[in-house]
Amino acid sequence: MRDQVSVLIPEDQVARRVAELGEEIGRSYVGREVTVLGLMKGSLVFMADLIRKLPLDLTVHLVRVTSQREQAAGRVLTEIVFSTSVPLEGRDVLLVADIVDTGITLSYLLAHIHEHAPASLRVCALVDKPEARKIDLHPDWTAFPVHEPLADRFLVGYGLDWMERFRGLPFIGTIPRPQPR
Ligand code: IMP
Ligand code: MG
Repeated sequence: MRDQVSVLIPEDQVARRVAELGEEIGRSYVGREVTVLGLMKGSLVFMADLIRKLPLDLTVHLVRVTSQREQAAGRVLTEIVFSTSVPLEGRDVLLVADIVDTGITLSYLLAHIHEHAPASLRVCALVDKPEARKIDLHPDWTAFPVHEPLADRFLVGYGLDWMERFRGLPFIGTIPRPQPR
């Protein structure tokens, strides 16, 4: 299956951008301890690399969200299905996301985190597909913005999956957009 993947962003380019982002994020939290909250599972690889480039004191936590979409009925159900116990109140929270597409997943999660009264809440995304947005929402940092017509391809690798596959690829690649079944 791996031979169906075309390289979009090669490994060395990902590494350079993640290092750059680490420095940039580090500059805006000088002297503060950051609560890094990774959105599972897609941000796993990105987060692992990013935290090693953050020149900050930090703690690491994970959260997982599922979404069931009934597009025809216009109904979207999002649910937090797993999270390690995370102290959020009064903390500087940095949510690390894989892809911001429609923005539905992230907006739900942000609302939930806000209820726990963090001192600050910011978002760092590996990939942003701004043209696909259904909810107005902008990550504070984005490693790679992806625009049309590329946004039409499905991204895999570097933690991103299609049907749980391809997460281990060291680069960000694309496969033709899978047809809805
Ligand atoms: P949203 O709620 O539409 O913003 O969905 C974002 C989630 O959908 C991400 O956290 C990804 O897990 C998944 N996703 C969206 N586009 C892609 C893609 O191109 N490749 C892999 N996963 C994707
Ligand atoms: Mg996925």
